[in-house]
Amino acid sequence: MRRIGVLTSGGDSPGMNAAVRAVVRCGIDAGLEVYGIYRGYEGLLDGEIEELDRRSVGDILHRGGTILKTARSERFKTPEGLERAETVLKTFGIEGLVIIGGDGSLRGGLDLSKRGIKVMGLPGTIDNDLGYTDFTIGFDTAVNTVLEAISKIRDTSSSHERTTVIEVMGRRCGDIALYSGLAGGAEAVLIPEIKSSVNDICMKILMSANKGKEHSIIVNAEGSGISSQELVDQITEKTGRDTRLVVLSYLQRGGTPTLSDRTLATLCGAKAVKLLAEESDSRAMGTAGGIITAFDLEEALEQKREIDSELYDLVEVLSK
Ligand code: F6P
Repeated sequence: MRRIGVLTSGGDSPGMNAAVRAVVRCGIDAGLEVYGIYRGYEGLLDGEIEELDRRSVGDILHRGGTILKTARSERFKTPEGLERAETVLKTFGIEGLVIIGGDGSLRGGLDLSKRGIKVMGLPGTIDNDLGYTDFTIGFDTAVNTVLEAISKIRDTSSSHERTTVIEVMGRRCGDIALYSGLAGGAEAVLIPEIKSSVNDICMKILMSANKGKEHSIIVNAEGSGISSQELVDQITEKTGRDTRLVVLSYLQRGGTPTLSDRTLATLCGAKAVKLLAEESDSRAMGTAGGIITAFDLEEALEQKREIDSELYDLVEVLSK
């Protein structure tokens, strides 16, 4: 293995730059040439590729986002797109690829690995929706962003004795809502994996108010199945209490990565390069019980993220 490529794909996440930096510097240290592929699979198809050196990744460790840019690519999902990607990689002499992205991006990597490209996948997404790893790169930073917002919203909700619905990201996975709701002291979290009763939530809000609680915080994952505005309307109607909506949206995708995300990204990047240098078969990097582990790429992607029902039940117990 002489030349490897690295790309970021799908929704960006804080820590992607730390991963890119580790791949470039560990790759050069291992005697490899490292090529950056810009704009994910779109850029790969268009040959937006250039060699990177140690200085290319200077001063990015602390920055959210990705210097390689990212994109979603419908073109790449076609047989012609895959064919084109393989041709471009061969033209550049790139034998190994580090793909930093979520479920869809790593599945694209699996398709490339079936064409003989050595692929190392890093779990780069704020959603934490990859079932094979404890956590994904960006999840910790995103949850801390939500926690900061919850703290600020608690202040004003208390002053006005309001209920506030906070919408967070997570189309298919409720982990951002669950972890931020638990750590933020929410009265309820609504997630895609478990059906919620708005009526029960309203009852809880009223009972809390009768016990002297000055405010209620409800965290709603965007994929919960109940629109946040609909939730606000129903709470207002059923409880008669002043209710507001805050949609955090893309705030959760930016910001300087936390220690946890920087460390996870750096260690996964270093492991990926080591395995490519050793000509290992394609793997998915992640952690198992906190230990950096390389999983068989295909098997890793077959694992579904199970919601931690103990955490979910604890939110209920702690908010009574
Ligand atoms: O997958 C990460 C994610 O942030 C999801 O939580 C969110 O629903 C989606 O990306 C938004 O996608 P886009 O950035 O393409 O609007």
